[in-house]
Amino acid sequence: MKVFISGNIAAEGIAELRANNVEITQWKEDRPITADELIEICQKSDALISVGRNKINADFLQACKHLKVIALHSVGYDQVDVNAAKKLNIPIGNTPGVLNEATADTAFLLMLAVSRKAFFLHKKILAGNWRAYQPTRELGIELKGKTLGVLGLGNIGLEMARKCVGAYQMPVIYHNRSRNEEAEKEIGAKYVSFEELLAQSDVLTVHTALTPETKGMFTLDVFKQMKPDAIFINTARGGIHNEHDLIEALQQKIIWGAGLDVTNPEPMDPDNPLLSMENVAVLPHIGSATEETRTAMSKIIAENILAGLKGEPLPYPVD
Ligand code: DGY
Repeated sequence: MKVFISGNIAAEGIAELRANNVEITQWKEDRPITADELIEICQKSDALISVGRNKINADFLQACKHLKVIALHSVGYDQVDVNAAKKLNIPIGNTPGVLNEATADTAFLLMLAVSRKAFFLHKKILAGNWRAYQPTRELGIELKGKTLGVLGLGNIGLEMARKCVGAYQMPVIYHNRSRNEEAEKEIGAKYVSFEELLAQSDVLTVHTALTPETKGMFTLDVFKQMKPDAIFINTARGGIHNEHDLIEALQQKIIWGAGLDVTNPEPMDPDNPLLSMENVAVLPHIGSATEETRTAMSKIIAENILAGLKGEPLPYPVD
């Protein structure tokens, strides 16, 4: 059986596939594969491991309907037309669970970095602008006891909330499509409406999937409903906030700061004003980028591929 990998994944997953006599072809170029190239190579493969933002849309699926399985190197699957895949009986697998901690760490890192202007001040050192000590300059804000608002209190959101409760005793409020009663019991999280979440959060962290309902959800009008000293964190998908509106909200001091691991588009333009703002920290979508997590993801991918090639149900199907 032949599997195409549209990038490089951790060695453990590849070893597992090879141990099961899977023949692997990999995209080795230092640029993303184009849609046409992806189709061309997949037409000669039995399965695809999709690394990055390959669009698994109806056109691709129709052109490659012979694929026995597509394993995503991500938990998010907004790049996939799941209904089209279902109609064509192509199973799609993702990597849930194993990246909760690493992604929550990234959200926590951004929250702390924004609250102390860390990225901005680091850039000042690099530019030779380490200024004389002055007690009223370069002040951040403290997090202890501040209210954490979580949009999407699932696995990653809960992990972020646990960290905030443990480190800073932050009371947690959240908004979901449905209530997370386990989290309510475990950390005392309180379910609120979206409007209450906006009005009450000191730090608002986004952990919801990108769907037609959440796309462009954070507009200027929405930022205006937040506290002027609030920090907005997004480690989910850049498409959930409107980037122009976020820039305006920060420039007009409608909110205090923002930490982003996801942008729209990705990669972010190096001239984007967000990159030179004092109270902003941006990372290049590294949520799950730890040795441990990427190794665990590669093993899950191998499990999904091996099951799919045998025509068995995937252990980690999207849905
Ligand atoms: C995920 O796993 O969804 C990460 O955001 C990488 O896309």
